[in-house]
Amino acid sequence: MFDVIKGDLEELEKELLSAVDSPVEIVREIGTHLVMAGGKRIRPALCLLAAHGGVGFELRRVLPLAAALELIHTASLVHDDVIDEAGTRRGVPTANAKWGNQISILSGDYIFAQAFQLVAMQDYGNYVYHRLAELVGNLSAGEIIQNRQVYMASRDIEDYFRRIQKKTADFLEISCELGGVVSGMDGERTKQLAEYGHCIGMAFQITDDLLDIEQTEEKLGKPAGNDIRQGIVTLPVIRALNESPDGEELEVIVTDPEMTEEMAARAISIVRASDGVSFAKDRADEYLDRARKVLPEGLPEAVREALLMVADFIGERDF
Ligand code: IPE
Ligand code: IPE
Ligand code: MG
Ligand code: MG
Repeated sequence: MFDVIKGDLEELEKELLSAVDSPVEIVREIGTHLVMAGGKRIRPALCLLAAHGGVGFELRRVLPLAAALELIHTASLVHDDVIDEAGTRRGVPTANAKWGNQISILSGDYIFAQAFQLVAMQDYGNYVYHRLAELVGNLSAGEIIQNRQVYMASRDIEDYFRRIQKKTADFLEISCELGGVVSGMDGERTKQLAEYGHCIGMAFQITDDLLDIEQTEEKLGKPAGNDIRQGIVTLPVIRALNESPDGEELEVIVTDPEMTEEMAARAISIVRASDGVSFAKDRADEYLDRARKVLPEGLPEAVREALLMVADFIGERDF
């Protein structure tokens, strides 16, 4: 999919492995397990693509930033899997499944630190450090807000959008923006690319929430139906709560912290039978259309095509 950055992404894997290296064997083992598990690498890919749109692309300059973004993402997933009690991620056992919660929390901290170590060794300037710190703050705040709202069946769509912006869209926005910033892209274009990142980020999380309803664990490489089980109300569920003839039954289930597997399965089938899925899909498609429209003029053709392909991929992804 990403011909322009194929070589860059190979270098990225090396950079990631070397960032999680440690003289402490268990730390190296966990870090290597996490990096080798792979993942879509969408954040570093966006950062690299944005950087190719700047003046005088230099891989040496942008690679530490791209790797730091993926490490921040990885660390937040390690913590997220502890919170969500998830057993699989990227098709392999999670750190918490393999090494337990305590070691996982500490490993997440270690990986955050390695990310900031990588950027500290560059002269990116205060703005980049400021934005990365803000990103980690927003990720945590997004998760805290979500955590406070579980089993509450909040029907407020604006509230949902604010939450996914903090949790996901800001991350994709910053990945695009900072790629531009470190490669000398002008302010106007950088802003447009950031907006593109915001829009695909919103669509990305809406799609993720849809897949949780529609897909199987086998396909996703991580648990399916987990949002409902945890009392997290996502866009298709909000829509079903508001519009489905079985909305009341759905509300009783998603507000019950003692929810059984049978109840969760019933809730999923209510949502699937409602127009929640198509409603959420339409919102995601609107964001993707906007993303395609705000792409700045004057990007190298290969970069522009790749960014359009990312939008297509998000619209079609089934994992
Ligand atoms: C998972 O992110 C968490 C969300 C924000 C949906 P990704 O879907 O990018 O996960 P990986 O990196 O490909 O595993
Ligand atoms: C992922 O959140 C973690 C962050 C975005 C911080 P979720 O719990 O919604 O995503 P998955 O389903 O585990 O990937
Ligand atoms: Mg999770
Ligand atoms: Mg979570």
